[in-house]
Amino acid sequence: MELQETKTGEYTLYIPSMDETYHSRNGAITEAIHVFLHEGMQRTTGNIEILEIGFGTGLNALLTAQYAAKTCRKVTYHTLEPFQVPFDLVRKIGYGELLEEPILFAELHDASWENKIKIHEYFTLHKTTQKLEYMNLTANRYDVIYFDAFAPKKQPELWTLDIFSKLYKATKPGGILTTYSAAGQLKRDLKSAGFSIENPTGANGKREMTVALK
Ligand SMILES: C[S@@+](CC[C@H](N)C(=O)[O-])C[C@H]1O[C@@H](n2cnc3c(N)ncnc32)[C@H](O)[C@@H]1O
Repeated sequence: MELQETKTGEYTLYIPSMDETYHSRNGAITEAIHVFLHEGMQRTTGNIEILEIGFGTGLNALLTAQYAAKTCRKVTYHTLEPFQVPFDLVRKIGYGELLEEPILFAELHDASWENKIKIHEYFTLHKTTQKLEYMNLTANRYDVIYFDAFAPKKQPELWTLDIFSKLYKATKPGGILTTYSAAGQLKRDLKSAGFSIENPTGANGKREMTVALK
């Protein structure tokens, strides 16, 4: 893995063998705020449970923990990551410093796996190394799902009707799934799984993204 600079000046991770980045090359933080906070958590109210597909660098978790504290909303954050990024590499990206939360960022990475860890009053983190395909999810549990897998063309096995049916069952009635992609097959599969679809403007000038509502 290598660091790659985005158009807004901060870095993301790049996997040469996949030719894939962890975030938009047009801006990692702006994308995460738009797709997962603005079109995800901020569409809900009160205390919530979030499921994230792909903890990766921990950027979405950091922004969510920060926002939860700012708004005094309790968040339980369940995140899947079978391929952990070494913290030495993540630290070089500097999201903790850029978002003025270096200690919180380190705590999110230091938290033990497979346990629920209270990071602060408003944020409980449960990281697991399980793969989404093999994971049993509790029905009607999550208010928001951050679907942040690698792109459909790079990781097609995670963008299937079977996966979205499983995520539909795990979403609370009234809950939402948000993702940066607006691929046609994704929209068809989400609808077949039972979701209603919205396609707001995407991050960094992208025409569309997808929000799916149960
Ligand atoms: C686009 S990156 C996620 C970026 C991350 N949310 C962040 O804020 O840095 C996709 C992530 O999905 C993870 N992933 C890959 N295969 C997976 C699987 N089968 N189940 C769950 N996560 C997976 C990758 O390791 C990677 O961290």
